[in-house]
Amino acid sequence: MRSHCCGELDAAHVGAEVEVCGWVHRRRDHGGVIFLDVRDRTGIVQVVYDPDTEESFDTADRVRNEYVLRVTGRVRPRPEGSVNPEMATGEIEVLGDTLEILNQAATPPFQLDEHSDAGEDIRLKYRYLDLRRPEMQQRLKMRARITSVVRTFLEQAGHWEIETPTLTRATPEGARDYLVPSRTHPGEFFALPQSPQIFKQLLMVSGIDKYYQIARCYRDEDLRADRQPEFTQIDIEASFVSEQDVMELCENMLKTVFKKVLDVELADFPVLTWEEALRRFGSDKPDLRNPLELTDIADLVDKVEFKVFQRPANDPKGRVVALKAPGGSSLSRKQIDDYADFVGRYGAKGLAYIKVNDLAAGLAGLQSPILKFLGEEVVSEVLARVGAKNGDVVFFGADTRKVVNDSMGALRVELGKTLGLVEDRWAPCWIVQWPMFNEGSDGSIAPEHHPFVLPTCNADELLDDPYAAQAAAYDVVLNGYELGGGSLRIHDEALQNAVFQALEMGQEARIKFGFLLDALKFGCPPHGGIALGLDRLVMLMTGTNAIRDVMAFPKTQTAACLMTSAPSAVDEHQLRELHIRVRG
Ligand code: AMO
Ligand code: AMP
Repeated sequence: MRSHCCGELDAAHVGAEVEVCGWVHRRRDHGGVIFLDVRDRTGIVQVVYDPDTEESFDTADRVRNEYVLRVTGRVRPRPEGSVNPEMATGEIEVLGDTLEILNQAATPPFQLDEHSDAGEDIRLKYRYLDLRRPEMQQRLKMRARITSVVRTFLEQAGHWEIETPTLTRATPEGARDYLVPSRTHPGEFFALPQSPQIFKQLLMVSGIDKYYQIARCYRDEDLRADRQPEFTQIDIEASFVSEQDVMELCENMLKTVFKKVLDVELADFPVLTWEEALRRFGSDKPDLRNPLELTDIADLVDKVEFKVFQRPANDPKGRVVALKAPGGSSLSRKQIDDYADFVGRYGAKGLAYIKVNDLAAGLAGLQSPILKFLGEEVVSEVLARVGAKNGDVVFFGADTRKVVNDSMGALRVELGKTLGLVEDRWAPCWIVQWPMFNEGSDGSIAPEHHPFVLPTCNADELLDDPYAAQAAAYDVVLNGYELGGGSLRIHDEALQNAVFQALEMGQEARIKFGFLLDALKFGCPPHGGIALGLDRLVMLMTGTNAIRDVMAFPKTQTAACLMTSAPSAVDEHQLRELHIRVRG
């Protein structure tokens, strides 16, 4: 139907007869001539109809935004003064000859230009129109390109792409399962996989050696800007590998993707232990573009009369830190109060601070509600340790380690943004030496990653002190986002049983994962892998801040699709077939 795409046309085509198809992006009537901006996914070209071509001119007069057209005409340079350097096709226009309306369009419910300020609900309800916007198309284009580079890279590294089932048994990754009722097995349910974890391990038992999959995963969990109920992983597994082998493969893959897609050379990724990340940044996914760090001061305040600091300073589960905000004394009282509310959301009971006005003036040069509780000597030791200068403010967090890390880690991120300290660069890193387990707020034990991660200790040591056990696990972090996580896996049945035992799963494990335990008996090779969130990678690379902006048809915060109205009620007959009665 067409000889060219709209965005392809430029000065090199001047004089050519062309046929293009596309949507009416804008129509302007300049008394006597009609301008149609015709758009397809490659760009926009201006087509001009004048009354000389009477029939086409009349048609052009009738078209409206988003009509679908087929245009023939001759490319000519734009007259002097009307060249548009903002447009790729801005040097030329097409003098229209014939004009065929391929389809009409109702008036769109929102403006489709790049700067559409339509609310997100309406954009999601008419997602197919939202996706016509050049901005959205560029994101989907980059997503396709990233996936293609990943596939090529992994194939060249010897990985086979293998699909694994999505109607399966529960695969635990810490979220709730989406369940699918079985018609043929009354009262029984499939679970949609939270990841292909178990299947990829079974493929290693099968001797597949190197696997990958661009895999859809499903998790029923609290949604955020970087979480969707249905998302995509770049899932990788390999046999006979060390932690370093997997990390190197993944790092090289990311370097290749950045080079080929953005022409960016990523330097070698720094490696931090989990312990160090929490100590310095209060987070296991630190944004290394932010120079602020937490400084431990428990040893300086363990004898002060101020109980708020003294108590956690002497508690093995407690932590006391200082966080220096350079130039922060410009923060108003109101801003500081707002930060106290902010850390409160993470469980902090207050936010002590010292404003450093004039160091040389001693206590008189400082402003703070806690000076009198600490004493001059402690204050000056603390200020010396954080390297405070005039004009800085030093914040303090004192509580359990978890509350301090969560609240002061979040404050660090917030202050970095407010004070404009976040550098403009790519800051990937590895986080290694994770604990195997963590303790839930109700005291229950849970895997830090999932139950198949290889511990670095033996089964006896693991059962003796589960919380001390370390995992052969690694996460890759980019600009403060957890991009991916992986580990070496348990390939020994006894050790796998020990982990289930530590997780207090006992008989439940046999019922849920008996097939995996059986497989481990039949010569399972040592193996390991990783999975990266493709949506998060694309979000970061396209410079958006929500993964729904890089998914064609995402769901809302409440895990619904506004376009199809899913989830929806089903008719009684269907429910009966599935042996389901809905409780009122
Ligand atoms: P994990 O649970 O860490 O590991 O998931 C790997 C990566 O998937 C992405 N991700 C998500 N992206 C969007 N929405 C979500 N709801 C969501 N949940 C996770 C993140 C995360 O880093 N089987 C293991 C991997 C392995 O051990 O090989 C796993 O799934 O970017
Ligand atoms: P208070 O004695 O409770 O009035 O607290 C004195 C100062 O310490 C106030 O600025 C509080 O915001 C701050 N504060 C209270 N609890 C904590 C805490 N757990 N961590 C840090 N600062 C705190």
